[in-house]
Parts: sequence; C-alpha cells; structure tokens
Amino acid sequence: MTATARLAALILPVCLLATACSKTADQDQGAEHGGEHAGSGAEHAGHSAEKVAAVDTARIIAADSEPGSWMSHGRTYDEQRHSPLKGINASNVGKLGLAWTHRLDVDRGTEATPIVVDGVMYTTGAYSMVYALNPVTGEQLWKYDPEVNRATGGKGCCGVVNRGVAVWDGKVFIGVYDGRLEALDAKTGEVLWSKVTVDQSKNYTITGAPRVVDGKVLIGNGGAEFGVRGYISAYDANTGEMLWRWFTVPGNPAEPPENEAMKVAQKTWHGDTYWKQGGGGTVWDSMAYDPDTGFLIIGTGNGSPWNIKYRSEGKGDNLYLSSIVALDVDTGEYQWHYQTTPGDTWDYTATQHIILADLEIDGEQRKVAMQAPKNGFFYVVDRTNGELISAEAFVPMNWASGIDDNGRPIKLPAGDYSEEPKIVTPSPFGAHNWQPMSYNPDTGLVYIPAQITALLFEDFGQTPAQALNVWNIGLAPLKMPEAPAELAGVGEQFKGMLLAWDPVAQKAAWTVDYASPWNGGTLSTAGNLVFQGTADGRAAAYNAKTGELLWDTPANTGVIAAPMTYEIDGEQYVTFMAGWGGTFALVGAGAFEEIVRRRSESRVLTFKLGGKQSLPEPANIPVAVPTPPPVQATPEQIDIGRQLYHGLCVGCHGASAISGGLVPDLRYMKEDTHKIFGGIVAGAYAKRGMPSFGHVLPPEQTALIHQYVIKRSHDLVAQLEAQDEDAE
Ligand code: HEC
Repeated sequence: MTATARLAALILPVCLLATACSKTADQDQGAEHGGEHAGSGAEHAGHSAEKVAAVDTARIIAADSEPGSWMSHGRTYDEQRHSPLKGINASNVGKLGLAWTHRLDVDRGTEATPIVVDGVMYTTGAYSMVYALNPVTGEQLWKYDPEVNRATGGKGCCGVVNRGVAVWDGKVFIGVYDGRLEALDAKTGEVLWSKVTVDQSKNYTITGAPRVVDGKVLIGNGGAEFGVRGYISAYDANTGEMLWRWFTVPGNPAEPPENEAMKVAQKTWHGDTYWKQGGGGTVWDSMAYDPDTGFLIIGTGNGSPWNIKYRSEGKGDNLYLSSIVALDVDTGEYQWHYQTTPGDTWDYTATQHIILADLEIDGEQRKVAMQAPKNGFFYVVDRTNGELISAEAFVPMNWASGIDDNGRPIKLPAGDYSEEPKIVTPSPFGAHNWQPMSYNPDTGLVYIPAQITALLFEDFGQTPAQALNVWNIGLAPLKMPEAPAELAGVGEQFKGMLLAWDPVAQKAAWTVDYASPWNGGTLSTAGNLVFQGTADGRAAAYNAKTGELLWDTPANTGVIAAPMTYEIDGEQYVTFMAGWGGTFALVGAGAFEEIVRRRSESRVLTFKLGGKQSLPEPANIPVAVPTPPPVQATPEQIDIGRQLYHGLCVGCHGASAISGGLVPDLRYMKEDTHKIFGGIVAGAYAKRGMPSFGHVLPPEQTALIHQYVIKRSHDLVAQLEAQDEDAE
C-alpha cells in the first residue's frame, strides 16, 4: 500500500464496542474565562433598552438598507455572506489591527458566525455556550451555558462545536449539542423556553445554527455516522411548539409513509433493515430561504451506514440522501429536490453551504441555488424547480468523470470499493466541508474554502445491530502509516486552498494554496475583499478580483469559522472567531506538525482600521521528550491494541496516536498518567470531556490500547533522538 493509501485510511473509527455515556457533568476543559477586554474602553454601543434583537422577516429581507447589521447566519436569507460595507477596502485593509479580543471558555473548536444587531454581538463557543458581547469593546454582557453533559462528547462525529445562534423578536435561539432547542431573552440570556428536538437515546447532536422565518425557528441535527434518521423541524418562536417536521429518508416500510415524498423515496431503498439503522440524511448545516417562492432550501447528509451494501443491498438512489431539497417554509411540504450523489456510499453529504443568487446564464436571468458539496462538483440549480443548470468538478477527483445529461454523476470504477479496497478522492473530509463559502455579486465569484483529500475505503462487514450508537459506517478499521516518512508522504497528498470560482463559466478564476486542508469559511465585502482564517493560524484578506494577499495577522490558533463584518457609529469591524477544532483537527491533522503544535485557543478577534490591541503569546504545545514505561506486550497484542485504539479513540486523540492538537497527545503522557490510564478510560475524566469506556472495554483490552500508546511513545522518542543527531 502506498503512503497515501495508508494515510488515507485516517478517519475510520468503526467501533465494535459501545461508548458509554456517564451522566456526570460538568467542568470546562479549557476554563480560561473570558474577558481579555483589550478594547479601547469605548462607550457601550448605543442600543436603547427596548430594542434589542428586534429582528423579523421584513428586516432581514431589507438587510441591505442597514448594512452595519448582520442579522442572520449567512447575513441575508440568500446566505451570500457578502457585506455591502466598504469602509475597509482593498486600498486600506493593510491598516487593520485588533480592536478587541474576547477569550471563550472552552478550547474545543470555534465554528460560529456571530450575529450583530441593535448594538449587541451574539455568538457561541464549544458545548453550545452563548455569549452576548459589546461589539465595540468586547465586554461580555451576558453568557449562557446550557450545561451539556461533558461525558457525552463522543455522541457526535466531529467535536463539541457550535456554528451560532439566530435572533428574532427579542430572543436568541440556540441549538444545543444534546438536541435541545432553546429560546433566550436577548437582554439577559435567561431561558424562555427549552424543547428537546431529538430522541436522546440515540446519537443525535445539534451543531448547526437555527434560522428564523416568519416566526418559525428551523433546526436540524446530525448523527448519521451512528445510525439516525434525518429530519428538519420548525418551532414557534414564541411558544416553542413544534409546527412541522420533515423526514429526509423513509421510515419503517410496514407503516404508512408520512407523506407523498416519503412514498416516492421508499421505492429507492432496498431490503428491510435500512430504517432500523436510521438511513441518515441528516440536516446538520445548510439552509437558505427564498422569499419569492416561500421555499426553504436545505442540504441533506450522507447515508447511515456509509456503505450502501449494508444500507440498501448495494443499490438504489436512496432518496433524499445527499440532496438539495426545497420545502414550503409554512408547512414543511416537499417542493422539489436535486440529488447530488445518488446511492451515496462515500459520506458525500450535501449539507454544505447553499447560496441563492440571480445569475445571467446564456443570456437569461436565472434564479439559482449554488452548492459545492463534499463530492467535489460545483452545482448550479434552478431554485424555483430544482432543475440542474450546470455542474463541474472544482477539485481533482476519481469517483466520477462528470455529470451526465440527466444530472447524474458518471461514476468510475476507481470509486467502487464493493469488491476490493480503493483510495477515493474526495474523502469524507470533503472537497469542501461545512466552512461557509461566500458570493460577491460584483465580481461574480464564489469563494470556496476547498481542499484535496483522499481516503482508503475498505468493506468491513456490517456493524452488529447491538452496536447502535457507536460509529456505524460499514467500513474497515484504520490502517495507519506510523513511520514518520510515510506520514509525511500522506501530509503531502492533502491540500487546502481558497478557490475563487466563476459559477457561470464553471471554472476557477484564481486560487491561493495553503499549508493544509481545513481552513476557515470566507467573507466577501463590497470593499473588493475576501476574508478568510487559515489552519496555520492567521486571519487574512485578499483582493476579491485577483486573490492577491493584502493583509494577514497571527490568530494564535487555527481559524475554521467564517469571519463576518458590521459597522457601528461609522466604524467598520471584521470579526474572526478563532479556535482550531472539528473533525480534521481531531483525526487527521497529525500529519501537519507545525499546525498541531499550536494549542487551540478559542477567541473572538475583532479588527478595525488602526486597531492597536495585541494578542498574548500563543500557548504552543511544549515538546518535551516523553519518558514512557517499557513496552510489555507482543507485536501481535500491540496490533490488537492499535485496532481498538483506531476504533474507539481515533476520533479525538488522532490517527496513529498523533493528536491533531485539540485533545492530549497520548504519546506525551506523564508517568503519573500512565499509572491511572485504566481509571481514565473507565471514566475518571468524564467531567473533563474524556468519555467513559468503563462499561464496554474490559480491563485487558484497555491494557492493550495502553501498550499500543506506549509503543507509539517510544516511536516518538526514537524519532526525536534521530532528529537531534541530525542537528548535531
Ligand atoms: C470524545 C472525545 C474522546 C474520545 C473518543 C477519547 N478521548 Fe481520551 N480524552 C479526551 C479529552 C477531551 C481528554 C482531556 C481531558 C482533560 O481535560 O484532562 C482526554 C484525555 C485522555 C487521557 C489523559 C491524557 C493525559 O495526558 O492527561 C487518556 C489516557 C485518554 N484520554 C485515553 C483515551 C483512550 C484510551 C480512548 C479510547 C478508548 C479515548 N481516550 C477516547 C477526549 C476523548
């Protein structure tokens, strides 16, 4: 196997054992409380006591008439993330400096887009914590901690992250990791209502931002790696009453389908077990609203399990997985769909950001929806009826050669792993993941945080039915490269870039290459700028027409969230939520040593022209040579430990026991920690976010994992010593 293939096998935590969820709560992992108020001490932004978060549909639709506000997740209902502000522009952006910073409580990944309206910024951090800040000074007005049970972190695939709140009529709405949807008083943070939107006995989680249309709070969820059935629901903003729910995939065929759309969908699924495993299709991120048609346009996720062989007898389109779907926002009734990956078997979600725009195509004005999902094609769809207008590959890929006249991918044998293992690109990290893109109507370009990644897909047999609530994807456990040279080889195969894409011509206008995948979402502004944070720890701005780097500054930590901008008293600000995290940071980043050495530090960083504040020194992870105890197991036993590790621990501690910088690198464990290894795995650190495996992992298996980690620690010592010798 090539190094790429081995490295490509990175992210396959197929578990045979259930993850226990201890009920103990709560202590922050990175409890370095907020309040580096490096602000200038300016007056409170002037909001009157009556009018806070006074947002409604008409106000969001008229957002361009108050460009200083950012009232909804993607700024406007069309989710273009393009601000008309140009106080900061291509000629002066070099003078940007820090106006203020605000340290968040938990350093486990920061993905939120803040909302700024009526003089207040509302944003979120890990474990669904909500912060209301003064947008001029960074001073905290209030904070709400929904007290997510820290021991349940393993219920999600990709970190205890949150992508932000919605505001409406004096209220702030937060989707909580454990499946709650809550309404807070925008003035105080007090809980007004709280609803559990999921079956909490299953591994549903919420990380996405709600949207609000006409008093309906719209929220989906995630969990398709564990066996759940996807849906989106609407709740009454005032009362919390559920108004409608639309499932994305059919349920038990022995029962009548919920609606006509489910009846149609049922015919595209095979066998009689898919519904027991949930089917997937979760609505975990994207939504856009079109006021002209009244359609809510959502993206749906991958199949559950990933491998179609175990989901649908290896055949069928499996509607409405990996699809763009339009629903009537009032009733939740299905309107149209376009399926990006029929019969998905690669985790090719279509939950990626959807942007609505009006484009001139072939001399005709078209109302379109645009998406760059994980599968690597850029789609332009007629948003009134779902008809495909065009689709082209925006990264190199080997699973399909194009899209045929019927709008279906032309699949290639290279992507078919049903008979033998195959390295497929894009990987489940995606050619583009949740990091928002943006669209500038002046340049006509879409700015995509794109990436090139690959993965070894290997059929592994079905996960036993009793193992629901663990990773259940029907693929092989990991085979990781462990020699440094091989690992480096892998790292070289993974690339990140900022890609400026012309959606009419369906081709790249320019690209900027990055040190690694997993860079931040983008913000476009009328100042001819594109802002983006980077995995290597910078906040940056580019010329929107040419891609020329005009400004960058250290952020101390990888930046994955999308920046946003607002204006108060004639001064324009740009905010980056900094904080390394998410699935690639947890599992795959180990190959990028200079990136993972940065400790994740969650912060709100707000810039303005002439800002004079500075960041504290980055708290890079120290590299002290570990002194592990001797290995006391045979190579065969260590290999079992390695398999168990990659089934149960890789999702947080990283492939090949190399941490992506977010949770401790187990190779560096201290002597005392080695002594209590068994206790930690059995739940001693559950309150700190290290799940308990006590009920499912017998002590002798824990001991094998320990031996594997010790072996990896010795590998590291040898590597460091070799480097020292080279240096001498
Ligand atoms: C859902 C994420 C998650 C998973 C899965 C997970 N861990 Fe952890 N683990 C953590 C976090 C977070 C910490 C740090 C807790 C703290 O703040 O001290 C941790 C800490 C540890 C520590 C202490 C390390 C030190 O140097 O202090 C050990 C040992 C450990 N984990 C072993 C394991 C093993 C073995 C597995 C698999 C059986 C595993 N973990 C799976 C999140 C996880």
